[in-house]
Amino acid sequence: MNIKLEGKRALVTGGNSGIGAAIALGLADAGAKVAINYVAHSEAADGLVQTIKQKHGEAISIQADVSDPSAVEDLFRQIDVAWSGIDILINNAGIDGDRALGWEADIVVWRKVIEINLFGAFYCAREALKRMVSQKSGVVLSTSSVHEEIAWSGYSAYAASKAAVSMLTKTLAQEAAPYGVRVLAVGPGAIKTSINRSVWSDPKSLQDLLGKIPLHRIGEPEEIAQMVVVLVSDVASYVTGRTVFVDGGMTDYPSFAHGG
Ligand code: BGC
Repeated sequence: MNIKLEGKRALVTGGNSGIGAAIALGLADAGAKVAINYVAHSEAADGLVQTIKQKHGEAISIQADVSDPSAVEDLFRQIDVAWSGIDILINNAGIDGDRALGWEADIVVWRKVIEINLFGAFYCAREALKRMVSQKSGVVLSTSSVHEEIAWSGYSAYAASKAAVSMLTKTLAQEAAPYGVRVLAVGPGAIKTSINRSVWSDPKSLQDLLGKIPLHRIGEPEEIAQMVVVLVSDVASYVTGRTVFVDGGMTDYPSFAHGG
């Protein structure tokens, strides 16, 4: 089995940190040209570009807020200028918002989560699919979450956005399949990044979290990146319209390991 992405043109939104950064490096290691999108912290994006270039890969960094449709159009135009199109879109930019029960949630924050996680994924998928459908090849992969399936108290916007990304994925996959374009998602569980630092850096919260993971450890961003590289490659040529969970078994309902 040979995973080759040589010559493929990829965009990773939110590619300058956490899971996105690991995916950007993973794709570059497999031979893809990678556009690293970021909204803030250009130094992190530029650092990754340098890392990829040192390994003789090709990368560029592009600033854009994915929740702004005209910024997204411009982002894709810049990739067209650099590489004349796109083969792989990784819809990864996302936020989890502020922890708040639904009836106490701030509407502005709630809306922002949906605008980035769902609208942002849609705006980017829309631009990518226009190009992929006409070239009759390409893959759109979104970073979803175990919370497209598992309810999460305090994070109604985040969980709703990920459930929506799941159905967006299935529907766009149906639409794009006749053109040989695959649309799918990866569903990470608890992965060690800054988004959940407050949990894994606190011993009591960490113990609680580990109890929710059958493999009893937090995942590393590279463990998501490895699966993403497989899924966007021809090794996964028959996979579309699904979220593949990479979660140490979190969606296996470990509380049912006893009782019931
Ligand atoms: C969230 C993390 C959380 C994990 C498991 C992810 O989608 O971003 O903060 O630890 O789900 O609950």
